[in-house]
Amino acid sequence: MAGIGIHPLSGAIGAEVTGVDLGKTLDNAQWTAVHQAFLDHQVIFFRDQTLTPDHLKAFGRRFGELDIHPQYKPIDGHPEVLEFLKDIDATKNVGGIWHSDVTFYERPALGSVLYALEIPPFGGDTMFANQYLAYESLSDGMKRLLSGLKAVHSDGFQSSPEAQAAYNEKSSTKLYNPTTEPTENLHPVVRTHPETGRKALYINPVFTVRFEGMSVEESKPLLGYLCRHAVKPEFTCRFRWSEKAVALWDNRCTQHFAINDYNGFRRRMHRVTVKGERPV
Ligand code: SIN
Repeated sequence: MAGIGIHPLSGAIGAEVTGVDLGKTLDNAQWTAVHQAFLDHQVIFFRDQTLTPDHLKAFGRRFGELDIHPQYKPIDGHPEVLEFLKDIDATKNVGGIWHSDVTFYERPALGSVLYALEIPPFGGDTMFANQYLAYESLSDGMKRLLSGLKAVHSDGFQSSPEAQAAYNEKSSTKLYNPTTEPTENLHPVVRTHPETGRKALYINPVFTVRFEGMSVEESKPLLGYLCRHAVKPEFTCRFRWSEKAVALWDNRCTQHFAINDYNGFRRRMHRVTVKGERPV
């Protein structure tokens, strides 16, 4: 489409999109091109965007209804916008482990939009892994084993008052609203993307705790293998942030990892999360 450029970041996943101003409402042709790039590349990036929280919400809403996170405190006046801050005295960041967003929900996120307000002079990159490739590269025997298998996803590690207090001590971004009962839901280990029809591996080391009908201990060997396999370097890309850059990722077929290698520097991001469907 005239004026819009799509520039892949790696052979596996990710593309930078040029020629789009996300601060303005995209016309139909622009929206179609952006949406297709999102489906084709699983995560897309835009640089030099000047966005208020309202712009960010309006762009996210093109994909669906926005989520209000149960545990991360939103910014004032915008319950749908999360601020992920790592200040100069913090040692913990948000998302510093491979995951897909809020998979403990019954209807986990479709996508997330992350906007860079302040970035460190070096470090703080985000990695993404293509979960279609993770699935497709498994052997036929493993695909057969996983077919029909479900796993429990839980937010237990961050929902209790004790877990939140331990996290909040090291992090500038605060957890709140503790619950004693974790939110848990069962999802297929291999899901079919509702828009592309492709199969993707759907487990992650943060929220996936065990397979249906099995104990945590019994699940560990296979779950551990799948989590390691899912993020092999050849399935990934790595995005170097600049201020005012935006990443939009598809949580239905990717995992991401925020690299925590910039102690002593500030990094501040805003995120909106788009609600998705029940995985099948
Ligand atoms: C996240 O959404 O997990 C955080 C990603 C990042 O800050 O790079």
